[in-house]
Amino acid sequence: MKHKLFTRRTFVKTTTIGAAGAALTTGGMSSVYSTFIQDVDKPAILGGNPVRTKGTNLEVSWPIFDDTDIQMYLDAYKSKRWSEYSYSPKELSGRFERAFAEMMGVAYCAVTNSGTDALDAAQRALDIGPGDEVITQTNTFVATAQTTFNLYALPIFVDTDPETFMINADLIEERITANTRAILPVHIGGAAADMDKIMAIAKKHNLVVIEDACQAQHGEWRNKKLGSIGDLGCFSFQEGKSLCAGEGGAVIGHDDYTMARADAYTNNGRDPRGLKRTFTGSNFRITPFVAATLMGQMRRLEAQSKLRDENASYLEKLLSEIKGVRPTKKYPGQTRRAYYIYQMIYEKEYFDGLPKRKFRAAMEAEGIDFGDGVDSSLHLDPFIETYFNLRAFKKIFPKERLDKYRKENRCPVNEMIDKETGLSLGQRVFLGTKKDMEDIVTAIVKIQKSASKLI
Ligand SMILES: Cc1ncc(COP(=O)(O)O)c(C=O)c1O
Repeated sequence: MKHKLFTRRTFVKTTTIGAAGAALTTGGMSSVYSTFIQDVDKPAILGGNPVRTKGTNLEVSWPIFDDTDIQMYLDAYKSKRWSEYSYSPKELSGRFERAFAEMMGVAYCAVTNSGTDALDAAQRALDIGPGDEVITQTNTFVATAQTTFNLYALPIFVDTDPETFMINADLIEERITANTRAILPVHIGGAAADMDKIMAIAKKHNLVVIEDACQAQHGEWRNKKLGSIGDLGCFSFQEGKSLCAGEGGAVIGHDDYTMARADAYTNNGRDPRGLKRTFTGSNFRITPFVAATLMGQMRRLEAQSKLRDENASYLEKLLSEIKGVRPTKKYPGQTRRAYYIYQMIYEKEYFDGLPKRKFRAAMEAEGIDFGDGVDSSLHLDPFIETYFNLRAFKKIFPKERLDKYRKENRCPVNEMIDKETGLSLGQRVFLGTKKDMEDIVTAIVKIQKSASKLI
């Protein structure tokens, strides 16, 4: 059913009035505001009509493919080369590696089975091992830290910047010790971490930088692709990512030796420069089917990124006309963002104190499904103690060191964001229409007007 009040023509007017009204919720109430409030439909959570009727999902169907993608996959299948290992050197996967390296502006790419494998290979290529510390963030997918723990090293969780939701680079230096080997920032959601500060700290303390760009295909920092700025960059091509193949990943970098080690690790230790087994290794090789899928998907990455940029800009314009939900800030060096989750800040004071949890529930009833803005609070995850209880960990780390770790393992800002201010929408939402963006803001305004009834 079509929403009566917030038609496209009246939208800007109503949201502007909404902003004025919102600004007045803690003070008096203007007559225009009270007229407006009488017109508003009942929130769907209280039995009113939802802004998005059932079955009109805000997220576009994903993944997207056409007959050419299917043909590329079938060609790989029919070729009867179902594996590309040392004696049948990388054909399709090699083609993808060269294309991806070129797109990222780096000399080398080693494709892997997943983003997790990419992080594993990258840390091994940089010889991170037992007893080392890797400074990373709490607001990330578990794999970022799991791969460090798997090397019997310690991920050190740094708290989150409350305005950008990225790693708070100002808190990194105080966590550096004699055991620190690397900084592993995550371009979480697809926005950029503060790479100027991070690279300067790394240089000062002689540390390597591994960028977890698993959520950030096509984002840029000072016109360079995210993932290409540090020593190594890691990507995921898992189904939900902007460039996807079901499962898959990649390590990228500029340095010949480091990338040879990363590549060799994915191929049982074989140096890509001569295929001699001179390095450590495992098997993270992809099948040609994955390579064909990636080559197919790459064709539409730029057009999709552009559409997401356009829709996100429009949403930002609309949000600037109201109060209470605003996009996270970006660092000045971010010249283009990527999309996995788009983060926003909820300010309950503009919703009569309505807690975020209840706002989200009311929005969901309107057909707009927000996430919590942060990927997680990994510093609270029970997996830390699971690792600490391993025999190997007890052997490597004296009890005092693990106790110190537990004591210093605090990220209160991230917990606050998770509970109180963080909101997010998935990348698929931004492949929709301008009307979708309008519906998001229409629903926000609708909830705002009835906030006091929802507490
Ligand atoms: C930030 C981050 N790092 C690492 C990974 C791991 O990637 P994969 O699922 O391909 O192993 C993901 C996947 O969601 C991620 O979001």
